This record gives sequence, structure tokens and C-alpha cells, in this order.
Amino acid sequence: MSIKLREWREDDAPVVFRAFQAADMRRQSPWPILSVQDAAGWIAAWEGVGHAFAVTLDDQVVGNVAVSGIDGHDNGWVSYWTVEEARGRGVAAAATSDLAAWAFRERGLYRLELGHRTNNPASCRVATKAGFRPEGIERGKLCYDGIRYDVERHARLATD
Ligand SMILES: CC(C)(COP(=O)(O)OP(=O)(O)OC[C@H]1O[C@@H](n2cnc3c(N)ncnc32)[C@H](O)[C@@H]1OP(=O)(O)O)[C@@H](O)C(=O)NCCC(=O)NCCS
Repeated sequence: MSIKLREWREDDAPVVFRAFQAADMRRQSPWPILSVQDAAGWIAAWEGVGHAFAVTLDDQVVGNVAVSGIDGHDNGWVSYWTVEEARGRGVAAAATSDLAAWAFRERGLYRLELGHRTNNPASCRVATKAGFRPEGIERGKLCYDGIRYDVERHARLATD
């Protein structure tokens, strides 16, 4: 499997739009992605916020990995998603591992964190496979439609 990370481009908006039509993707954007224009806005909104990379498999865009929230302590926040058709093939884990290597090497970060709802076991596996160790449960951290969700925090250090 040959996956690569590259910068997002404006003309990736249609694939981003399609990706966000999956039921489990609705909460992965701060605003609903209801059109290709919204998807173009999602791509543009990364400017100045963090580093987001399109993940390609055989030159087709199949996902996103990003590091944002970089603070003065060289910590960053990692997120990822893959398109439904590409799931279960190790894409997210490999891309997240590549992102971490990039962030430590090129961006000089020391600690990368991520969190997943405890009812998202696939994301937990991705984090673990990408070398992000579990650090504990943040109780009731997220609230969607009036329901609170526990979140498991994972982190990977440059020295791990
Ligand atoms: C979570 C997500 C990124 C996984 O992407 P992916 O490309 O399928 O990930 P990978 O193939 O690298 O690994 C998935 C792992 O989860 C496992 N998995 C999938 N569904 C599972 C489930 N319901 N229960 C337990 N494990 C599950 C797979 O078996 C695989 O582990 P394995 O390699 O040990 O067999 C993808 O499902 C997604 O984009 N979901 C919606 C967005 C999201 O939840 N992002 C993360 C927010 S914290």
C-alpha cells in the first residue's frame, strides 16, 4: 500500500464534500459540510490554524490528517478521517504515524495529543497503531444532541 501526505488543494473540494456525507463524519467539522462550497471553505479554513494534509492512496485522496492547536510548549492536537471506501486497510494508522514523524521532525513538536469518544473503537485502534499511548478517560467531555460522551486521551511524544 502506497500512501502519501500532500497539501490540500482547492480542487479537492468535491472529495471532501463526499467524505463528509458519511454519517460518522458530521461531527468532524465545526460546521456542517452541505455543499462543495462548504468543503472548499473547510480546506481554506486550515490556513493559519494548523497543518492539514490530504492522504492519498495510489494518487487518490482518501483521507485527512492534521495537527492543530500548537502551543508554546511544543504540543499539538492531532485529528484524522478517511473516506468510507478506504477504511479498514490501515490508511488512517499509517497516515497518522507519518504525520507524527513530520510534526516531530519538521515542526519540532514534542507532544502530540488526540482524543476519541469511547464509543469510537476504530479511532482508538488507529491511535494505538500510530503509537499514541492511552492516557486516561476525560469524563463527559463532549456533548452532542444533549448526550454527553466520555473521551479517551492518547498522546505520542517525540521521545517515544
Ligand atoms: C476512525 C477512522 C479514521 C479509521 O480509519 P481507517 O482508515 O479505517 O483506519 P485503519 O484501517 O488504519 O485502522 C482501523 C482499525 O480499527 C479497527 N476497527 C474498525 N471498526 C472497529 C470497531 N467497530 N471495533 C473495533 N475495532 C474496529 C480495524 O479493525 C482496524 O484495526 P486493525 O488494523 O487492528 O484490524 C475512520 O473510520 C473514520 O474516518 N471515521 C470517522 C471520523 C472519525 O471518527 N475520526 C476520528 C475522530 S477521533
